[in-house]
Amino acid sequence: MLANKRILLIIGGGIAAFKTPDLIRRLRERGAHVTPVMTRAAEQFVTPLTIAAVAGERVHDQLFDLTTEAEMGHIQLSRSADLIVVAPATADLMARMATGRADDLASTLLLATDTPVLIAPAMNVRMWTHPATQRNIETLRGDGIALVGPNDGDMACGEYGPGRMSEPLEIVAAIERHFTAGPLAGKRIVVTSGPTHEPIDPVRYIANRSSGAQGTAIARALAALGAQVVFVTGPASVAPPEGVEVVKVETAREMKDAVEAALPADAAIFAAAVADWRVRSASASKIKKDKGQLPVMEFDENPDILATVSQMKEGRPRLVVGFAAETDDVVAHATAKRARKGCDWIVANDVRPETGIMGGRENAVVLITGAGAEDWPRMGKDAVAERLARKVAEALG
Ligand code: C5P
Repeated sequence: MLANKRILLIIGGGIAAFKTPDLIRRLRERGAHVTPVMTRAAEQFVTPLTIAAVAGERVHDQLFDLTTEAEMGHIQLSRSADLIVVAPATADLMARMATGRADDLASTLLLATDTPVLIAPAMNVRMWTHPATQRNIETLRGDGIALVGPNDGDMACGEYGPGRMSEPLEIVAAIERHFTAGPLAGKRIVVTSGPTHEPIDPVRYIANRSSGAQGTAIARALAALGAQVVFVTGPASVAPPEGVEVVKVETAREMKDAVEAALPADAAIFAAAVADWRVRSASASKIKKDKGQLPVMEFDENPDILATVSQMKEGRPRLVVGFAAETDDVVAHATAKRARKGCDWIVANDVRPETGIMGGRENAVVLITGAGAEDWPRMGKDAVAERLARKVAEALG
């Protein structure tokens, strides 16, 4: 799939640069040509000699390089690639991309190109969650730039959280997906999944039993058909799929913000089991057990993400899909829900305990569309996801 693909790899200046020789090796193993570009800062973390040796090509690192200008010019360098990959994409490099700077070779190439760009962010968790970085990500997404990662995990700086660069094989998977001409290639799809946690105090929360299995399978199936998937997930018990952009959230309100930040999209699929209520005034400190005194909780209603997105006046995804877990009169209730929420399709399932569907591996689905109800036979959650993904591909044409 990557045979003879030309990849311009821009290596940013972060500690995750140490993973790039492995990334280059994996890409070359698959037949890709890798032209490396390094920022000045990147050269502090990994030497140009190492990179040139594994890439089998010289490293480009200077904007004013007479030999390069005479041979091909830096503009040509970016245009002759099939894909530009930025790994690691540091906070600074992303900020410069978002503001259109062209003050070194890497940023100039990124500004001068009309080649698709995939970035693999890597930075300290605080830098990643900083509103400035989040603003830049939104801008970059709006510019059509695809992201892979970052992952959660231990960081070289000793902290833990999101900001760790995706592993080389995950980046390779995202690159391969880019070149997969599946029926959903070029389509951007937001998927919500998992439960939400609504805090009572810093250590206690209200939750539900959703595992995230169905949402994860759907995201994986859409990505397999070539879609660029933004996977917004609450604290699920199954691991997110590889090669999709993962946005981890805790509460319903965070999920809504993340979904809105991920738009525009061609389709949105709301498989999350969002908590209907949150505790009105969650305590900032742990509520103490006072003899004989029982806490009394009041609730507020959470925003309905599905209804909000379905009823957007501008920028509504072309296809909005909701889920309905029903215990009786499945078709009637789900049809009413479709109308109430304003979504295009409802994937309804019968969750009476005797069906074993909740928390199980199988699902029995009725798909409610504008054309009526479609009964699907009982099948594995992966098969449901694949069938739904194919239907989404047909609908988006
Ligand atoms: O109203 P109900 O919770 O039954 O609707 C289920 C559908 O609505 C699911 O697709 C779920 O993801 C979505 N939903 C939502 N935000 C909420 C509640 C439900 O997006 N606050």
